Amino acid sequence: MNAFDQLTTESTIHRSVYTSPTVYAAELEQIWKRTWLLAGHEAELPAPGSFKTTLLGDQPVIVVRDQSGGLRVLLNSCRHRGALVCRDKAGTKARFQCLYHAWSYGLDGTLLGITDAAGYVTPLSKADLGLWALPRVETYRGIIFASFDPEARPLLEHLGPAARAHLDDVFSTDDIEVIGLAEYEYRGNWKLHPENTIDGYHPRFLHRIVGQTGSFSVGQALDLERGHGVLAWKNALKSPSAEENTAVATNGRINRAMVVFPNMALVNINDFINLRMVIPLAHDRTQISALALGFRSDSPELRRRRATQLAAFQGPAGIAGADDVELFEAAQEGFAANAPAIGWLDISRGLGRAPGTEDLEDETAVRGYYREWRRLMQ
Ligand code: FES
Ligand SMILES: [Fe+2]
Repeated sequence: MNAFDQLTTESTIHRSVYTSPTVYAAELEQIWKRTWLLAGHEAELPAPGSFKTTLLGDQPVIVVRDQSGGLRVLLNSCRHRGALVCRDKAGTKARFQCLYHAWSYGLDGTLLGITDAAGYVTPLSKADLGLWALPRVETYRGIIFASFDPEARPLLEHLGPAARAHLDDVFSTDDIEVIGLAEYEYRGNWKLHPENTIDGYHPRFLHRIVGQTGSFSVGQALDLERGHGVLAWKNALKSPSAEENTAVATNGRINRAMVVFPNMALVNINDFINLRMVIPLAHDRTQISALALGFRSDSPELRRRRATQLAAFQGPAGIAGADDVELFEAAQEGFAANAPAIGWLDISRGLGRAPGTEDLEDETAVRGYYREWRRLMQ
């Protein structure tokens, strides 16, 4: 096998990037343990004691708001014999208690109690046996990011001005609320999801409704640097009423499908705001956790519309979401075809176009994603 960073170039991706367990194992160390990762949104953790459990790469974590309102990301593994200390998906707790021998931990990970501590002839040091906390947790516009690397560059720098401007636009106020959640798995590599989110070439063909309405046409595929990218376009899918269509068209509202490297996708089309987290389960298996978000100031009617759109459009059974899941599995099955002459796949569409003249159907953003992938896999 080539060195990992030679498995993609500016215009190509080698199939093994999706199919090789060796590449996958290296990604877990070189990407997932080093860069900033999406861990959730503050709206999921409204009060002290609010928590959720998830995976960052292959690492089980608890994302929790502690007693003083701070955000912590703790490894979900008991310091006694390693079992999960929290098996619930989400909720509110005063402490975490391991089911095996009932050691208990505070919301900040501190070891509070060892059951029957007198049984230890050599006493254990509670101070050294807290849950391991990720060294870096920062938020931007309520979006929670964490890193395993104490030396990771500041989050603001990692996001960069271009990506931040798009996030500022979507999350223009801070009264964000969660109005829906969809979780689903597909039999395909984890990178298929982010690269598809910023692939503006496919919607006309894979999602035929988009082709039929001609609504996804005027816009750009942009490389936002540091691996982030966005498709930005005007008035995509038609809103339910003609009145609204006119409003959307005249106020020039921008729709977006955006990726923050490596594991965050944000789709904002008309009223619909969908924050998706990519969870790799194996080189050929992935879970997606998709939040539908809105604002507390929304009217009941608007809230209903935002929630419905997760189910009807982008969710796993929605008119676009279901197509994409079918595609992820068809792509992974196709990757198995393996002859030396077909090893390299093409991402050169629009390559060489002058900056500022990018087309919505160019693979500009996909190339940017893999540039960051290459940098980290060196
Ligand atoms: S493994 Fe958690 S208390 Fe024993
Ligand atoms: Fe799609």
